[in-house]
Amino acid sequence: MTFSVVCNVSDIPVGEALKVEGSEGAIAIFNVDGELFATQDRCTHGDWSLSEGGYLEGDIVECSLHMGKFCVRTGKVKAAPPCDPLKMFPLKIEGDDVLVDFD
Ligand code: FES
Repeated sequence: MTFSVVCNVSDIPVGEALKVEGSEGAIAIFNVDGELFATQDRCTHGDWSLSEGGYLEGDIVECSLHMGKFCVRTGKVKAAPPCDPLKMFPLKIEGDDVLVDFD
């Protein structure tokens, strides 16, 4: 595993998301009550950014384009129309740094 620093913990307030660029596309970092999760940023249903065009409620992000929902803890689809889950990325915190493994 190769972790890279992507941002600072304080860059992502509780209930918010941040878009960061990974080696294979953008990644969304979600803050669920102080726990951080990294998923692919692009909705699996269309070309839409979940960090910038999604609404996070608890651990569910709703895509604002067609109202599909995903669990950001698991990547699983929680509401159609998306069929495919979000890809998840390993994430860890060291000090104030947020690190993600993009592989
Ligand atoms: Fe996200 Fe359609 S693009 S639900």
